[in-house]
Amino acid sequence: MSPSVSLPVRTELPDIELVKKLPKNADALLVPIFSENEGVEFPVCPAIDKKTTKELLSQFKAVGAKAKAGEITRIPGVELPIIAVGLGAADEVDDEKIRRTVGTAARSLKDLEHVVVAFGALSTRALVEGLLLGSYSYPGFRGAKADDQPTRVSSYSVIADPKTAKEEFVAAHITAESVCLARDLVNTPSSHLYPETYAAFLQSEAKKCGVDVDVLDEKALEKKGFGGILAVGQGSARPPRLVHLRWSPRHAKKKVAMVGKGITFDTGGISIKPSLHMENMISDMGGSAAVVATVFGAARLNLNVEINAFVALAENMPDGNAIRPGDVITHYGGITSEILNTDAEGRLVLADALARASEDHPDYLIETATLTGAQIVALGVRTSGVMGSDEFRDRLAETGRKVGEPAWAMPLLEEHEKTIKTPAADIRNVDNTRHGGMLYAGTYLSKFIGDGIEWAHVDIAGPSFNEGRPDGYLPVRATGVPVRTFLAVLADIAEQN
Ligand code: BES
Ligand code: ZN
Ligand code: ZN
Repeated sequence: MSPSVSLPVRTELPDIELVKKLPKNADALLVPIFSENEGVEFPVCPAIDKKTTKELLSQFKAVGAKAKAGEITRIPGVELPIIAVGLGAADEVDDEKIRRTVGTAARSLKDLEHVVVAFGALSTRALVEGLLLGSYSYPGFRGAKADDQPTRVSSYSVIADPKTAKEEFVAAHITAESVCLARDLVNTPSSHLYPETYAAFLQSEAKKCGVDVDVLDEKALEKKGFGGILAVGQGSARPPRLVHLRWSPRHAKKKVAMVGKGITFDTGGISIKPSLHMENMISDMGGSAAVVATVFGAARLNLNVEINAFVALAENMPDGNAIRPGDVITHYGGITSEILNTDAEGRLVLADALARASEDHPDYLIETATLTGAQIVALGVRTSGVMGSDEFRDRLAETGRKVGEPAWAMPLLEEHEKTIKTPAADIRNVDNTRHGGMLYAGTYLSKFIGDGIEWAHVDIAGPSFNEGRPDGYLPVRATGVPVRTFLAVLADIAEQN
């Protein structure tokens, strides 16, 4: 048996459990409060008796709590310290507000080991996702005593009736862990994560959750004609890989293909990028990370849908072997492409993977990539751009918004059908206008989707990596977007007849 391969640094999440009533050894109790005309409202919770509830409410009033969304209030409590998260007006609470506020709370709680959480009838799913996602903080390759490293809560006990909440609790736990796997992969620097080590990790991880895995190395890629992946990888000393992951439950009715961009570092190649912030291009495999984390998550959740995922892994470097502007390559399946800009490399590796994924005639094809800076220009850093076949594109974007991963449907433009033409090959990888760059990339990818397949391409250049401050349950650096959207879409497809 091959030894298990792990990432050099994994982020440890706190333990979390469901309990029926208040445990004895807690350091603090986390509760929700709502804003009301005269001040603050503290909902009745079965875990707290009437008298204590009254006393706590008067303490909240005494310290001037307003319960604005995201506000955190500490009071001495009766038996143990209370930490209240403000949720705003009770009739305006939704799942995303819960996730964000408890995410913020999870980041701010320090020097507490065991925290009990009593959120009454509010969504256990949103609560658990918010707590775990907010607890994430990538430790990096640092000594044990890095003094800016937060000492987060090490275990949470969530008070809820297991009869009604158990299923949600497990789904939320697996979902959050899947998001955090994607985050860890993206946060791992290219010194440690490159096509070969990435593929080895996936092989090892797939075994743990009953997912089949097949890795094509550079020789196999050559033999089968994966010209796009090879072209992008040829400027690097580290050869490319195509990894196929397969989850196939016995009674699945629908077949979904997934594809992810896995550029483990993007220098731009010969069309080299400016050096300022180039280090963030360790995140150019964010699409592949979301895809693999989704497949492992779907397997752990035992979703009743067949998934064939293909992640194209390559490092885009400039050297004596690198592709040049003007080169023509032949993609898997035979379409030829003129490379005018070697920094538009994502579409080149995706084209091969999309053509391969289409061969299996899936019902749906979902692909994601940190594809264009133009996505950020058009939609900002939090909202993904979704292109594809009309209905499925809209469904995926709407699902994203529902789970708190903003996404917006974008069109494919008729004019790009003209500007994609070139005398030198079937198509070219960039046009000469530079207008609507995110959409041009979508048109390029559309050429590799098999007939009749419902598909969606999700450009996550901005949303996958947070260069700003932590926000709600979003940490700095890798965010794990859009894993929750994908798991929700797959769960939805699995439940269709
Ligand atoms: N990986 C980049 C896109 C990107 C930019 C991701 C910023 C995350 C943050 C991609 O490979 C790229 O360089 N795209 C070019 C395309 C252009 C040459 C048509 C871009 O967006 O500038
Ligand atoms: Zn690039
Ligand atoms: Zn790139």
